[in-house]
Amino acid sequence: MVRDYTVADEGAWLRCRVLSFLGTPYFDDVLTAKPLVERGAEIVAELEGDLVGVLDLAVEGDLATIETIAVHPDHQHEGVGAEMLTEAIRRARALGATQIDAWTRDDPTALAWYRRSGFDEQGHYLHVYADSYVDPDEPGRAVTRQPGLNPIKMFLHGRIEDEARMRASFKRVHVCRRFVRRLDDEERHVLPTATDAANQVAAFILGKAESVEGRAPTRAGPFRPTTPVKIVVCRGTGA
Ligand SMILES: CC(C)(COP(=O)(O)OP(=O)(O)OC[C@H]1O[C@@H](n2cnc3c(N)ncnc32)[C@H](O)[C@@H]1OP(=O)(O)O)[C@@H](O)C(=O)NCCC(=O)NCCS
Repeated sequence: MVRDYTVADEGAWLRCRVLSFLGTPYFDDVLTAKPLVERGAEIVAELEGDLVGVLDLAVEGDLATIETIAVHPDHQHEGVGAEMLTEAIRRARALGATQIDAWTRDDPTALAWYRRSGFDEQGHYLHVYADSYVDPDEPGRAVTRQPGLNPIKMFLHGRIEDEARMRASFKRVHVCRRFVRRLDDEERHVLPTATDAANQVAAFILGKAESVEGRAPTRAGPFRPTTPVKIVVCRGTGA
């Protein structure tokens, strides 16, 4: 079930986010208080009383940005992310947004998910960590030491064109990517999750629906958009 966040969810929201990020390049991006969303949506997914997914959406002008999306690791690949995204898109459109975007690092699961969800990859820059525990010389390659201060760990943004040089100088470098999906293009639906599809087929078999409609993705490989193929099954037509 997808619903609005309430203040009583804060502890569960923070735990869900941190556990979800643990196995990803955002493993050390830990929050201890939920950020406020001034205009947009704060969506959570609940399963048998447990909070299993969180999505914060900020809307500014015609752009809606996914500030946070995280599904509890015990409930990934169950359609929770897709359900929250569908609700986020509904809210974004209602607030006048014509596109939705998200910034993410190089986690293969997340990249595949955005691509399958109709997003195109558009912008790139670098997230660079200079860490003296990894190499005592890393901080000195990033900043000039100030009197009385000894740089230990730093997080910096860099230009994508400097990627090779940055990777040669620092052990931890991520490509941060912008994913964008237009919301005024009705042809690019979110692909149905397995759960959605199963529910639709069940309703059809039980006679509660006249047809089953979906789009089967064909995998085109990394960095290429998927090609949706429309499937329509209608009762009595043999189609
Ligand atoms: C990226 C993320 C939000 C996706 O959420 P999710 O709930 O796992 O996503 P869904 O279940 O909707 O879809 C994931 C996959 O499961 C499949 N799936 C959906 N329902 C399914 C089901 N019932 N059974 C089997 N597979 C299913 C989907 O087809 C999809 O396949 P794909 O990855 O090949 O496209 C989630 O993996 C996550 O929280 N990752 C860690 C945090 C993170 O990286 N956040 C984004 C960057 S900020």
